[in-house]
Amino acid sequence: MAKKKQAKGFGSICVQPMATERKILSHNEPIFATTAYGFESLDHANMLFDDPSKGYVYSRWGNPTIEMAEKKIALLETSGSDIDATAQLFSSGMAAIAAAMTSCATSGDTILTQHQLYGTTDELMQKQLAAWNINTMRMDLNDFDAVEKALKKNKKITLVYIETPSNPMMSVTDIQTVAEIAHRYGRMVAVDNTFASPYCQKPLLLGADLVIHSATKYLNGHGNGLGGVVVSRDRNFMRERIWMKVKLLGANSNAFDSWLLLQGMKTLEIRMQRHCDNAAVVAAFLSDHHAVKKVHYCGHKDHPQRNIINRQMSDYSGMLSFELKGGLKAGKKLMQSVKLCNVITTLGTLDTLIQHPASMTHVNVPKERRLAAGISDGLVRMSVGIENAADILNDLEQGMK
Ligand SMILES: Cc1ncc(COP(=O)(O)O)c(C=O)c1O
Repeated sequence: MAKKKQAKGFGSICVQPMATERKILSHNEPIFATTAYGFESLDHANMLFDDPSKGYVYSRWGNPTIEMAEKKIALLETSGSDIDATAQLFSSGMAAIAAAMTSCATSGDTILTQHQLYGTTDELMQKQLAAWNINTMRMDLNDFDAVEKALKKNKKITLVYIETPSNPMMSVTDIQTVAEIAHRYGRMVAVDNTFASPYCQKPLLLGADLVIHSATKYLNGHGNGLGGVVVSRDRNFMRERIWMKVKLLGANSNAFDSWLLLQGMKTLEIRMQRHCDNAAVVAAFLSDHHAVKKVHYCGHKDHPQRNIINRQMSDYSGMLSFELKGGLKAGKKLMQSVKLCNVITTLGTLDTLIQHPASMTHVNVPKERRLAAGISDGLVRMSVGIENAADILNDLEQGMK
């Protein structure tokens, strides 16, 4: 606490942390690779234990590199508006989703959601939340009468959880209308915005209470760091419920992953522009291809929720999926034939990624359940990268021969 005298012993010099006397105005964000922080005085320590948001005590509670990334995400999710939001980073997208859900619903409550969700979100609800007596109710959230009826009838629904566009079918939910209905009944709305990224869609501006990302995907953009984030304008909720989950459950991010995220986000706009442009070219190519039965893409003129997309998305993201006429066999063959597209199950990286749910991610899901979720034998999901579009098309062409 008090200013230290320089140690003289060799071993003490080895051990003691060093400080610089010169003021640092680092151009790039530094990685604060420290577990804990010192105090100027006992009064300072008392003040920080009383209100940790005023400084730094311990990196599970907060860290400057993590905070810089949080600040940037909150600004990106609210840009173009005067909304003042705050973000909380987590170790992964799933940690952020679990924290958001358990901050809005406790034992005996119900989460109202859509039929088709990212598989692990589905599993979280079925396996973990159910064990904690948090129930799930599913419906087509674009059936507004049904949503209103459910909220009116069931006072235990505390959260409406939306994933839009959904993984992997690109189905879209009307955030603004669902939020208006939910707010009429005093319920909260959370949106997983992973597939769109704040470049294509800003749910807080459409009335959502919470925005969630797997920051592992487009926000990081380089496939080199895991992360998740919850964003909200309600500072009290963020502090009392969301940050408390980080502090008590230890689902915090870390300085290095947050630094990678900060570096990745510097190119978010130009990456997304290219992802979106390339996906439009790939979607048009696939739509005309004789081996393809159907393309699921938010920019498609025949997308079933075309009107909603026009209202709430400013571009269509780099994600799409398509159904091969040849079913399971054709899907497997394509995975074995592609040379430029990488057969990998994450998304939102610079390179084009492709995967075949029926033989990969959903191989253990009973066929009837998989088909009921719209994931047919021949469905292929693509995260279109930022390569030269012609190379992606050539690879698909040779792969589908
Ligand atoms: C839409 C969506 N939400 C959440 C997640 C989970 O993110 P993470 O893998 O960072 O936990 C994923 C992962 O693929 C996803 O696709």
